[in-house]
Amino acid sequence: MTSDIKSMQLYPRPERILDDLRARGLGDGPLPLDVLSQLDQLHYHGTDALDVAIAECRIGLGDQVLEVGSGWGGCARHIAHRTSAHVTAIELQEDYDRVARELTARAGLDACLTHVNADFLQVDLPESGFDHVVSWLALFHIPDRASYLGRISRTLKPGGHFFAEDLYLIASPPEEEREDFRRHLFPNSLVPLPDYESTLKDAGFSDATLTDMTDDWTAFTAARLAAFRENRSGYEAIHGPGGYEVIHTFYEKMAGYFARGLVGGVRFRATLDG
Ligand SMILES: C[S@@+](CC[C@H](N)C(=O)[O-])C[C@H]1O[C@@H](n2cnc3c(N)ncnc32)[C@H](O)[C@@H]1O
Repeated sequence: MTSDIKSMQLYPRPERILDDLRARGLGDGPLPLDVLSQLDQLHYHGTDALDVAIAECRIGLGDQVLEVGSGWGGCARHIAHRTSAHVTAIELQEDYDRVARELTARAGLDACLTHVNADFLQVDLPESGFDHVVSWLALFHIPDRASYLGRISRTLKPGGHFFAEDLYLIASPPEEEREDFRRHLFPNSLVPLPDYESTLKDAGFSDATLTDMTDDWTAFTAARLAAFRENRSGYEAIHGPGGYEVIHTFYEKMAGYFARGLVGGVRFRATLDG
């Protein structure tokens, strides 16, 4: 699975964040979290989106939080820093996990985070071990929705919170585009919104409140693409023309999927029955 996910142009070369930090004079040594968190968020609206989860789930001192699909670890570090909760960050890709560990150590947050390099479908999880399970833009990648939802409900304490931002399917791309869509999005659990809600109920989350983020994320991805093009020379000065092309392809594909009405966005908070 790890080699396939790399076909999505967000994922080659996670070390590029170290190049961005070096360009800001932070080539080694301690990292201020306010600088780091401008670079390490692989979802929409950066730490503002995380603060919604912290408030809605009332994540606090000493809570055990599990993040599914943690990328560079930016969400996990922000939550741990803001709340003094302990965050276990599970990431599939070995190279992202390795860079995430380095960033966490340099941010001085080692004691508040546990990084785990594993496929969420395979990793050992404690029964009723977590107060909250959170995830940003990772669930649609994971095959077998019923299976990963079952794992989440088993590892949550009764009454625990499940908060996520995710993609859903509005319309399948035309037949001739399906292979390209698969390569550039790596969608393994992309379901229509009504199925999204019913499968949450089946997994023991009967009170899920879903917010449709599609209009917001359509505007966000279009603005992100325009700003990236505007800053082409600045980005190429750090990452070279090849680095620009990779991320440009990713930003262009995502903006297109939203603008063309193929994918939508959803945010929800749900409480485990019991
Ligand atoms: C778009 S990134 C978001 C990362 C992070 N949540 C953030 O917002 O900054 C999604 C992440 O989910 C990870 N992922 C995908 N499938 C996974 C799986 N089966 N188990 C664990 N992580 C997975 C990917 O490798 C990727 O790093």
